[in-house]
Amino acid sequence: MENIKKQMNESFSNIDNLSDLESLRVSYIGKKGIITNLYSKMKELSNEDKKTYGMKVNELRDTFNNLYDSFKQSLSEKELKEKLEKESIDVTLPGISVKTGSAHILDKVIEEIESFYMSMGYDVVEGPEVEKDLYNFEMLNLQKGHPARDAQDTFYISSDEILLRSQTSPVQVRTMLEKKGEPFRIICPGKTYRRDYDDATHSHQFMQCEGMIVDKEISLSDLKGTLDLMAKHLFGQNVITRFRPSFYPFTEPSVEFDVSCFKCNGKGCNVCKGTTWITIGGAGIVHPNVLNMAGYDSENYTGFAFGFGLERIAMVKYGVPDVRCFYTNDLRIVNEFERRED
Ligand code: DAH
Repeated sequence: MENIKKQMNESFSNIDNLSDLESLRVSYIGKKGIITNLYSKMKELSNEDKKTYGMKVNELRDTFNNLYDSFKQSLSEKELKEKLEKESIDVTLPGISVKTGSAHILDKVIEEIESFYMSMGYDVVEGPEVEKDLYNFEMLNLQKGHPARDAQDTFYISSDEILLRSQTSPVQVRTMLEKKGEPFRIICPGKTYRRDYDDATHSHQFMQCEGMIVDKEISLSDLKGTLDLMAKHLFGQNVITRFRPSFYPFTEPSVEFDVSCFKCNGKGCNVCKGTTWITIGGAGIVHPNVLNMAGYDSENYTGFAFGFGLERIAMVKYGVPDVRCFYTNDLRIVNEFERRED
């Protein structure tokens, strides 16, 4: 028993973690442990010896238990301390910034325009980007060989009948055919394509927004009022609109519309290039031929239509100097115009 005690003390002195301590417990006071085994020897002894032997074994077991308890406590504390140290977080370290997406600036402009027109009862419609020559030109009063076709250097696809739409105006034709003589009002924002060399103000792919209303007694003053309200919605209540005579085969009369420069208020600046006016787009009263070709009786119905470039609006409104900024996927540009509740 003295040997066991010595050996036990030695074993304890080598213990430095809880799992070894547990093994030690099993080997001494477990079911087949060294101390447990001592008890089984009792039956071989006389009654007299049993008493002293039993006391000694109890003493040994108590010594073991005391040592065990104090080791358990100090090792638990040590291990907890180590664990806490290992898991400690340095709250002063810089965090990892999480990148969030935001709406593209062109989408923002489209949303603004859509909400304006929807508030006036217009539907927002779409049309295909791969289009028929018939809708992109012919039914807009631009027959083959018409000189105005040259202004829109077009990407043809498989034949000279199928093309990438060079304007959103074919959606006018599609809508008229679909509405079958009924009045309507629509806008159509979408992508358009022309064989242009890309530079700061030209892009072979760009966006337009088309608008059209067909009803009874629609006049040029309706058109002017509508575009004037749109300009104020987009650029501020103080802007003035100006309409200049122009030519488009699908409208008669045709106009180009400008807004007074909202940046310099008539002083001349880099946005208006010193002219104090910013050209926004083209418009006019729908040509009777266009109505008739699409099945509307031009004696009874009139309409107005307009079209403008969305990049141009975004550029002047947000001071973007180069149209390529919209398409180079540079996050610095996208982030600069993060969606704000303004
Ligand atoms: N489609 C014309 C263009 O790309 C813009 C335009 C002008 C559209 C007059 C219209 C319009 O609907 O009436 O230059």
